[in-house]
Amino acid sequence: MDTASLADLAVDIAREAGDLARRRREEGVAIAATKSAIADIVTEADREVELLIRARLDAARPGDGFLGEESGAERSGAEITWVVDPIDGTVNYAYGSPHYAVSIAAVTGEPDARTWTALVGVVHQPVTGETFHAVRGEGAWLGDRRLHVGEVGEAGGLVATGFGYDPATHAGDLARVAAVMPLARDLRRAGAASLDLAYVAAGRLDGYFERGLHPWDHAAGGLLVEEAGGVVTGAPDGRPGREMTVAAGAVLHARIVEALGL
Ligand code: IPD
Ligand code: CA
Repeated sequence: MDTASLADLAVDIAREAGDLARRRREEGVAIAATKSAIADIVTEADREVELLIRARLDAARPGDGFLGEESGAERSGAEITWVVDPIDGTVNYAYGSPHYAVSIAAVTGEPDARTWTALVGVVHQPVTGETFHAVRGEGAWLGDRRLHVGEVGEAGGLVATGFGYDPATHAGDLARVAAVMPLARDLRRAGAASLDLAYVAAGRLDGYFERGLHPWDHAAGGLLVEEAGGVVTGAPDGRPGREMTVAAGAVLHARIVEALGL
């Protein structure tokens, strides 16, 4: 498997997709629909950017599977499946905040985080122009700089989290924040899971945890953290996923897992 060429392809497509997202943002953004909850929105740009990514992948690798946030799954049973969030941080995007990203991962087999092995992960932030990429067994990179997770000092870790769109989940999410806060020097909630994970990989955050993630939220970012020397686990089955995702360097990771009672 030539994973380096998969990574080159994903980087090229993520940058082209990011240029489109940024252009559409400059032209003005309209909310196209709400999804799981009234706060869970999709813009025309999310859909258009996903179509572009899907078309580029289809042209370059017609036999591969695909799972995208906006258009669902295609070609199950393929050896490689692309797991794509065209715009992660859609609410930031709709509000004109620069903190959003294109996230593209290639995984083996079905796009199920309980069983897949991520081969390649790319998280591209169009507004800063930063492209984070990881290749299994080869490391994680920001441009040509190799990434390493941070080490936590006595002041505690700089920890990020996120909250689900469904108000019914907020009390539980806040209780988990309260449980983790004693380990933290401070808390961030920036609004794009893929960037939270990329920032853990880059040492810009020490740790991250969130309940309720979808496969496209963490497929690329999770590999970035692992390849930067960190640990990514969660639930169900000890794997990052719907019930919980925890990502950090080994020491802080173990402390967060304990604080959350996982
Ligand atoms: C969301 C963002 C957010 C996280 C949510 C995700 P979207 O993705 O990553 O930070 O808290 O769980 O759903 O909707 O912007 O693609
Ligand atoms: Ca999205």
